Amino acid sequence: MFRYLIPFHPKRHPHFFTDVLVIGGGLAGFRAALAVDPALQVLLICKNGLENSNSIYAQGGIASVWAKTDTLEEHIEDTLIAGGELCERAVVERVVRSGPEEIRNLLEIGTKFDKKADGEILLGREGGHRSDRILHANGDSTGKELIRSMIEEIKRRSNIRIWENTFALDLLTADNCCRGAIVYWKKHDEKELIWAKQTILASGGIGQLYRETTNPEIAAGDGIAMAYRAGAKIRDMEFVQFHPTVLYIAGSSRSLISEAMRGEGALLVDRKGYRFMPDYDERAELAPRDVVSRSIVRQMEKTNSPNVYLDLTHKPADWIYARFPGIAATCLHFGIDIAKDRIPVRPGAHYSMGGILVDQDGHSSLNGLWAIGEVSSTGLHGANRLASNSLLEALVFGESSGRLASKTAQIMHNDYQVESIENPPLPPLDSIQQQFHSLIDLADIRNALKSLLWRTAGVVRNEDGLRGALEDTLHWSGYVFSQQFQSIEGWEIQNMLLVARLILEGALQRRETRGAHNRSDYPETLPNAEHSVKQEEILVKSNF
Ligand code: SIN
Repeated sequence: MFRYLIPFHPKRHPHFFTDVLVIGGGLAGFRAALAVDPALQVLLICKNGLENSNSIYAQGGIASVWAKTDTLEEHIEDTLIAGGELCERAVVERVVRSGPEEIRNLLEIGTKFDKKADGEILLGREGGHRSDRILHANGDSTGKELIRSMIEEIKRRSNIRIWENTFALDLLTADNCCRGAIVYWKKHDEKELIWAKQTILASGGIGQLYRETTNPEIAAGDGIAMAYRAGAKIRDMEFVQFHPTVLYIAGSSRSLISEAMRGEGALLVDRKGYRFMPDYDERAELAPRDVVSRSIVRQMEKTNSPNVYLDLTHKPADWIYARFPGIAATCLHFGIDIAKDRIPVRPGAHYSMGGILVDQDGHSSLNGLWAIGEVSSTGLHGANRLASNSLLEALVFGESSGRLASKTAQIMHNDYQVESIENPPLPPLDSIQQQFHSLIDLADIRNALKSLLWRTAGVVRNEDGLRGALEDTLHWSGYVFSQQFQSIEGWEIQNMLLVARLILEGALQRRETRGAHNRSDYPETLPNAEHSVKQEEILVKSNF
């Protein structure tokens, strides 16, 4: 594993000390930072700018019981049904019951949700929810508004320091305990050791492992790879949710076309204009995402087409532009007027239900390491996430991990520093290896891996495809892991190959169809639902 090869020595690199380190600048990371006791120092690092997280792209919104006619029990039940018997009821109950309180907190810090003329919050509906319970902002720009209000609040806190454009290479570990992270600070082109009493990983998902995805460039699975190398337990990586409706136009980025559009009555039709969803499921366009994605793939095969279409043209144009201003603007860019034209869509990788295994508060199996948001596996989503539950999970687990990490940090001595780490000698970067570096085309590996996973570990999977993909991934890993890259592209590829292996192994081992994991060779769901957990064997006490 490449953690032993990072050309790096603690005595030769700058150090920074903090009480709590938060890795990731999305909703979960912000919520965690805000929950830390203001008397403690927080350092929040993000891979890119503050305004480039997965959360900011959230369109549909945040699910929470808010309407008087809705009940917590129904939200709990809907979440459990979507999760294919792999949700943990206690976690589901905790998250759903904390929802209204977290919404009130958001209103307090100035988040502006869309409202009706009478001042009541407007609620939308998405697949799998039996009531209107999705709060949204600026029509389809909920993530933007949430992040705006969080950033304003963070800026009011003098104990929170932010480093943008900072890439975390690896976690620092000693005695089965996380002590912070090694980071690369782009601005100074420098690696730095961050010693932290407690570390909270909130680095998001894995969408970039797939050719078709709604996720931004940064979602390369870095957090999961880092945690795995550090010895933390990783769970259920085979469960990747494919959003049914991703804009499919040559040359466009694969923008999400929100499920809220189907919630508002948009129909799915094939190239001949035939509405096909009722043929596959009585819930039609509002069936759970795995069902809709599979049905779309089947209809694409049946009609020999690369996509299907979403049709909202039966609604009044003014209402469409007001409700979906972001989607309307994106589509117009590519010559599609959503009030007059059908929108070409197909499924794309959207959300990883698997991730770092955590307990009810967000603590991982590695001391001092917490994981929240998409990088974690909390037990809320099971085998298939209910739409718009993830922002809620990010808030609830962000709050508990920030609060409890700060409590633990308060009672820790300053013995987490460099003196307590053993430093095995580093292998030199030899000239043969440097020459080989120039032969590796990182962009080509990235593209090949994304296509491979899309073809073999996508919406529908089978043994042959998965086995071949695993062989290729292991082969490529053989010569990529042994490199000492000096670029984010190189470190990312190492992370992506490792996470691909975890997804493929999980998908191969799960010989059943459950939730988002669909095996054409094992279409049945096994009677006993089981999680899959992986942990790397730790060979040395310290990682450098
Ligand atoms: C959407 O707006 O369709 C995405 C919401 C989600 O993934 O929860």
